[in-house]
Amino acid sequence: MFFYQGKTSDFTIKMKKRQDFWKELKKRGKIYALAPMAGVTDSAFRQICKSYGADVVYSEMASATALTFNPKETLDMLKFEKMERPYVVQLFGSKPEHFAVAAKLVAKKIKPDGIDINFGCPVKKVQKQHAGASLMSDLRLSKKVIEAVLENANLPVSVKMRSASGKIDAIKFLKNIGNLKVSAVMIHGRTMAQGHAGEADWKIIREARKHFRGVLLANGGITSAEDARAMLEKTGADGAGIARGALGRPWIFKNIKNKKLKIKNEDVFKIALKHSRLAYKLKGKRGVIEMRKHLCWYVSGMSNASELRRELVKVEKINKIKSILITDNKKILNPNI
Ligand SMILES: Cc1cc2nc3c(=O)[nH]c(=O)nc-3n(C[C@H](O)[C@H](O)[C@H](O)COP(=O)(O)O)c2cc1C
Repeated sequence: MFFYQGKTSDFTIKMKKRQDFWKELKKRGKIYALAPMAGVTDSAFRQICKSYGADVVYSEMASATALTFNPKETLDMLKFEKMERPYVVQLFGSKPEHFAVAAKLVAKKIKPDGIDINFGCPVKKVQKQHAGASLMSDLRLSKKVIEAVLENANLPVSVKMRSASGKIDAIKFLKNIGNLKVSAVMIHGRTMAQGHAGEADWKIIREARKHFRGVLLANGGITSAEDARAMLEKTGADGAGIARGALGRPWIFKNIKNKKLKIKNEDVFKIALKHSRLAYKLKGKRGVIEMRKHLCWYVSGMSNASELRRELVKVEKINKIKSILITDNKKILNPNI
C-alpha cells in the first residue's frame, strides 16, 4: 500500500495515497467537464450532462463558511447519485480554517471524487468575503487555503481560476503553488475584470501548460465541437470545461466527442421532460420551479420559442410541462434548431 505524508500546521498525518481519478481520465483521452455553475449544476442537470458524455461534473459552489457553521442545507445541496461519478465538489471562501472543516466534512459526508477550490467567482457578494477571484489575487492566502484542503481531505484537489485577477495572472498563481499536490487546474481564460463576457485568452492557458504538470482544463466560450477542438489545439490543454455551452444543450459533450447527434425539436422536448422529472424527483415542487430557466434554455432558437417561454416561466407541475412541450406542441411551425 502507498502512503502519502500530509503535513498539518502542528502535526504530521499519514494518509492513504489519494486515488487520483484525474490521472485515470487523462489516460483515456481528452477530458470534457461540466464546469461549476451556481444555481445550475445541481444533481439533476449533472446527471443529464453525464448521460450525454460529460467526463466529470462539478457541483455548484458551496460556502466553506456555511459548511463550518450551519452545514445542513449545503450538505443537502451537495448530494449526488453514483452515476455522476467522477463528481467534484467546489468550495468557496477565504478562511483556511473554514476550508479545513468544510473539506473534512465533505469528504466524510458526501464522499465525492474530488474537491475543487473557487478562485474565479467575480460576483460582488463573493468578492466582499475576499473569496473567488478576489482570493486569487492574494497569493499567500490562496496557498494556505489549498494547503488546508489538501491536509484535511484524502481526495484529489483541483483549483479553478481566472486568466488574471488584478496583478496576479494564472502563471504567477501556478508558480506560487508549484510545490503543492494539486491534481487539476481549470483556467477560465477571462480576467476577473472581464466577468463572463469578451474573448477568452488562450495564450495564457498555453503558457500555463509549461508551469503545471497535472491535468489542465481550458474554459471560456466553448459552445460547439469546433470551439472545443480549436481551444484544445491552441492551448495544449488536457481537456475543456464547458459551462454556458451546455445550458439547454447537454448533448454538447457527445457532439464534441465526434458523435454528432441529430437532435430534433421532439428530442429536445423529451430530454427537457426527462430533466424536469429528475428535478421533481430530487427536489419536489422547488425542482419544477427551478426548471423554468432550463426549459427556456432548451427551447431557445426554436421558431416558437417566445410563445413557449411565456408558458414555461409559469410552470409548477410536471404535467403542465408535458402538455406545453409534448401534447399541445403540435403548433410548432418550423421545427429546426
Ligand atoms: C450561471 C453561472 C454560474 C456560475 N457559477 C460558478 C461557480 O459556482 N463556480 C465557478 O467556479 N464558476 C462559476 N461560473 C463560471 C463558469 O464555471 C465558467 O467559468 C464561465 O461561465 C465561463 O465558461 P463558459 O464560457 O463555458 O460559460 C458560473 C457561470 C455561470 C454562467
